[in-house]
Amino acid sequence: MSLFPLTVRSVVREAEDVLGLLLADPTGAALAPWEPGAHLEVTLPSGAVRHYSLCGDPADRSAYRLGVLREPAGRGGSEEIHTRVREGTVLGVRGPVNRFPLVPAERYLFLAGGIGITPLLPMVRALPPGTWSLVYGGRSLASMAYREELAGLPGVTLVPQDTAGRPDLDGVLGGLAPDTVVYCCGPEGLLRAVAERWRGPLRTERFGAAVPAGTESPASPACGEGPAGPEGFEVELRRSGLTLWVEPGRTLLDVVRGAVPGVAYSCEEGWCGTCETKVLAGVPEHHDTVLGADERASGTTMMICVGRAHGPRLVLDV
Ligand code: FES
Repeated sequence: MSLFPLTVRSVVREAEDVLGLLLADPTGAALAPWEPGAHLEVTLPSGAVRHYSLCGDPADRSAYRLGVLREPAGRGGSEEIHTRVREGTVLGVRGPVNRFPLVPAERYLFLAGGIGITPLLPMVRALPPGTWSLVYGGRSLASMAYREELAGLPGVTLVPQDTAGRPDLDGVLGGLAPDTVVYCCGPEGLLRAVAERWRGPLRTERFGAAVPAGTESPASPACGEGPAGPEGFEVELRRSGLTLWVEPGRTLLDVVRGAVPGVAYSCEEGWCGTCETKVLAGVPEHHDTVLGADERASGTTMMICVGRAHGPRLVLDV
C-alpha cells in the first residue's frame, strides 16, 4: 500500500473534544472507494502514524471524513491533530483498508462507546430501516459526536452517562434474536462486557488507547500494559540465528526490529495484523484483537507488537 498525499479540506468541531476532518485529493481527483468499517492510516506532520475510521458517506468520492477524539493522555497523535492540523495541511495517507466489514445479516445491533461511533455510522446509514438498532453511549450528550445526524434515524438510542448511566447491556442483549449480528466499537471494557454476555455473532473493534475508531490512548492493553509487560523473556529468532532478551517495558516488536531490518508492522496496537509472526516454540501471550479463539489456542502465531511470552522463552520464525 503506497503513501499518497491528501489535503485537509476542512476542520470542524463535531462534539466536545472531537474534531471532524475532511481529507481530499490535492488535485481534486476522485478518491478510492471504500465500504463501511474501513479506516485510513494517516501520517501526521510530526511523522507519527495513526489510524482513523472513515465515518462519512462512501458515495461521496470527493473527500474522506474522519472524527478524532482529543486524548491529552494519549501518545500525542490526537493532540497533534487538534492543535497543529489546519485547513490546507497535507497528510500522508495509506488505504482505505477494511478489517471491520459489514457482513450480510437479517438483523443487527450496533453498540458504540464514545468515538467508537465512527465506523458504525456509515454502517447504519447503509442498512434499511427496521433491520438494525444502535445503542450509543458517551460521557455526556455534548461529548457524543454525530448525535444530530443519528437523531434523524429510527432505531437509535443515545445513552449519555451523566444523565442516563451506562447502557443496560443485559437488557439490550437479552432480548435479541440469536442470529442478530452484534457490532461493537468502543473501549476495551465495553467490548469485554459485550463478549461476556453475547454468544451470537459478534464483530468488535476496540479503541480507547488502541484503535482506529478515531482515537488512541495509553490505557489499552494493546498499547499500554499489554505490549510492554513487567516480565522479561528470551526470544530466539530462528531464521536469523539470533537470541535476544526482551526486557520489561519493551515490546517484542521493538526488540525484533532493532535486530532484523524490514520487519513488517503498522498499527503497533494489535489490531491491523501486519506484524503477525509464526511461533515455532514457547507459549505466546496474546494481547491483540486480530486472532480468533482457535488461533490463540493453537499458539502457532502471534502479533509481536503487543504479544509477549507466557513463560521464559519464545522461538519465532524470523
Ligand atoms: Fe498491527 Fe501488530 S503492527 S497488529
